[in-house]
Amino acid sequence: MIVAIDGPAGAGKSTVARKLAERLGFSYLDTGAMYRALTWLAMQEGLPLGDGEPLGELARRSPVMFDEAGRVLIDGADVTSAIRQSRIDRMVPVVARHHEVREVMRERQRELGHRGDVVIEGRDIGTVVAPDAAVKVYLQADPQVRARRRQAERPDIGADALATDLRTRDESDRVRMQPAEDAELIDTTDLEVDDVVSRIEDLIRTRSLTTP
Ligand code: DC
Repeated sequence: MIVAIDGPAGAGKSTVARKLAERLGFSYLDTGAMYRALTWLAMQEGLPLGDGEPLGELARRSPVMFDEAGRVLIDGADVTSAIRQSRIDRMVPVVARHHEVREVMRERQRELGHRGDVVIEGRDIGTVVAPDAAVKVYLQADPQVRARRRQAERPDIGADALATDLRTRDESDRVRMQPAEDAELIDTTDLEVDDVVSRIEDLIRTRSLTTP
């Protein structure tokens, strides 16, 4: 079974998806980390980020991997922490917008996502990567709350700069951020993580009961 969790930055996707996967005993796939790792490698190699073709080739040549402990690896490097810096936050939408990159990522995500029960988080999982997912959830939250949550994870940047970055990123990501028609929308602004996870578990239960 695939559970797709989409939504913008700071809506709570990672925390919720991780916890849900843990409770259900499913594996977990963070597709944002894949775009981040590719962006890190492209910057490391000094590739121009405005050019899709070489980035698509780089993505094909250097597939992102996840080890048992959930570490993110690309081209032999452990980039788990490096990809969470604000310089990567800023550049990743530039890389993610190229169709050459998205094609390679989509293939790889499908490959990684079709190995049993999995929770996949991203922006286009319910619409593009796994339109046949059994359960689709779209998380959203008030922009101020999203900025505050992100701030806790980004000590390297001030609150104003972070709010501006988040707005800019929303703008660039918008075309890929539409909820699937059959996604359940959950506003996490006033909800605790456990409440969101329980609601998704309920959805899965209902879904399993109604699907033969
Ligand atoms: O969820 P995140 O903040 O780690 O995602 C990083 C970036 O990758 C974000 O700007 C949008 C992009 N992304 C995407 O285009 N498609 C996905 N399935 C996941 C992330």
